[in-house]
Amino acid sequence: MTKTWGIHTRAIHAGDEDTRDVAPPLHLTNTYRFHSAEEAARAFETEALPIYTRWGNPTLALMEHKIAALEGAEAAVATASGMAAVSAALLTALQAGDHVIATTGLYSGTYHLIAEELPRYGITVTEVAGDDPGNFAAAIRPATRAIYLESPGNPTLGLNDLAAIANVARAHGVTTLVDNTFATPYNQRPLDLGIDVVIHSATKFLGGHGDAMGGAVAGSSDFITRARKGAIRKFGGCIAPFNAWLIARGIETFPLRMARHNANALRVAEWLSERPDVAWVRYPWHAAHPQHALARQQMPGGGGGVVVFELAGGTKAGVRLLDGVQLITRTVSLGDTRTLITHAASTTHRSVPRAARAAAGITDGLVRLAVGLEDIEDIVADLDRALG
Ligand SMILES: Cc1ncc(COP(=O)(O)O)c(C=O)c1O
Repeated sequence: MTKTWGIHTRAIHAGDEDTRDVAPPLHLTNTYRFHSAEEAARAFETEALPIYTRWGNPTLALMEHKIAALEGAEAAVATASGMAAVSAALLTALQAGDHVIATTGLYSGTYHLIAEELPRYGITVTEVAGDDPGNFAAAIRPATRAIYLESPGNPTLGLNDLAAIANVARAHGVTTLVDNTFATPYNQRPLDLGIDVVIHSATKFLGGHGDAMGGAVAGSSDFITRARKGAIRKFGGCIAPFNAWLIARGIETFPLRMARHNANALRVAEWLSERPDVAWVRYPWHAAHPQHALARQQMPGGGGGVVVFELAGGTKAGVRLLDGVQLITRTVSLGDTRTLITHAASTTHRSVPRAARAAAGITDGLVRLAVGLEDIEDIVADLDRALG
């Protein structure tokens, strides 16, 4: 039934088919009682019954079913954070001796994991600019096993042509993974475009309220079973049931919220682009985005909730703006109900070497605005007053 449901119905009902509770219960338990030694032995043999929360738990399963249903995936596994999802997916796809190609436009935590940690495990890495599928084709070697993407990328909002890159990868038997945190399944469904594995920081739009860290990997049953039994069980990055419950609850209103994030962000991008004190604005659904046509095709639901821009006065003016806002919250992260403002070069991407920042298009003055759900007039008025 899930397959024929619309996105709002899936967000609300997926995963609750097997319980008599109308509001999903929170299973705060580490272990499950066995009625007999024989039942315990059978549970371990078949894994058909819940055993231990790191292995699985009905509240985790609720969150997993919702994310799989939203992404159109056979299965999903919930993780302790977005980074636990990124690492679980990479550890499942790769082993020593393998080669991975990654786009340069990555969240800084993912950048460090790929550029610094993976080589410690005997995995070689090539980084390529993500805007040309030809770059991925040219970088493929006999040892290449995975292509890692993030579209739109954090914070530059650069896009990867998912269908074209998936085609290149398929022809070489290479697994494609994409971080869909910024786009969300409301706007973009990578598996429908031929991508193999989708990764989420559910800390952001899926949970949506800035109160629960979590993540997920979605894909084929085979890949997810390997991730669950390998990376999650053995490296241990399972999500806490309470966080899974909060995120599953957040997901019930995720499509409604996302439509408003999209609408508010587009309005902010349009407003900023008309101001003489703004040097440039980037938003996937705004005509000034260099990959605007691809965005409209690949993200049919909307451009997402994040706008980036630089003021004509550069870094100094950007910092003045951050200090001047009153309604908008100075912080990191994105996807909350509130509008959040970040100066990337001095905070989220400070640890990325300057040359790597430049290669990814992260200019020193780049301001990231994660547009929230407040009244658009109030968001714009706060920006207007702070810009002076
Ligand atoms: C695109 C993207 N992926 C992954 C992560 C990591 O998520 P978490 O902070 O939930 O570990 C982030 C965090 O900002 C992100 O922006």
